[in-house]
Amino acid sequence: MTQMIEANVEREAPCAGLRIGDVAPNFSARSTTGDIRLSDYRGRWLILFSHPADFTPVCTTEFVALAQSASEFEQRDCALMALSVDSLFSHFAWLRLIRDRYDIEVRFPIVEDPTLVIGRAYGMVAPNDNDSATVRTTFFIDPHGVIRAMTCYPANVGRSTPEMLRTLDALQAVDDGPVLAPANWAPGQALLAQPDASLDTVFSAEGQTDWFMKETKRGSRK
Ligand code: BEZ
Repeated sequence: MTQMIEANVEREAPCAGLRIGDVAPNFSARSTTGDIRLSDYRGRWLILFSHPADFTPVCTTEFVALAQSASEFEQRDCALMALSVDSLFSHFAWLRLIRDRYDIEVRFPIVEDPTLVIGRAYGMVAPNDNDSATVRTTFFIDPHGVIRAMTCYPANVGRSTPEMLRTLDALQAVDDGPVLAPANWAPGQALLAQPDASLDTVFSAEGQTDWFMKETKRGSRK
């Protein structure tokens, strides 16, 4: 039998207001794949995301979609980790239903957070809402444990798996810098050069936009 560890966050709650560039607060908790610690994911990318509740329609479609794309995240060396206030046994029952109904096994961990200690630390709980359910927050965490992007969707709109993959591709493509991923960038398309902002560059540039808008190498998928 595995040892049970209490959900435990190394940061005072509530501390919503995490920003891009912050180190993701470490925690240990029970999950559908056993006891896990966020810091164990150092060395690879991680998408940590919350969902409002098990056994709800939009969440179910998200989990089916993510499980169907699990190998795509794996190819990018990115782990997935879900979290909600529901109990571990609720998560198990829901995953069984998803397997039986949609013929797909959700193998990435779903963390239980019944005390909301993790959800509050990550600002996943709407502060002025009486509902204890988490909103649909998504944190893209790099191999150093740093938050590199985050999104927040309401309970009634599901996330886009292709957009999650595209965001991950873009983050990985700009990682070696100094390049930028433009709007709608996808692997194989040109990245933009980081502008060299000096007045000499501005005045010596041939075209009006050349000093700040320059395509550079094509970014590939990592
Ligand atoms: C849903 O996933 O469908 C959902 C969850 C919470 C509130 C409303 C909808």
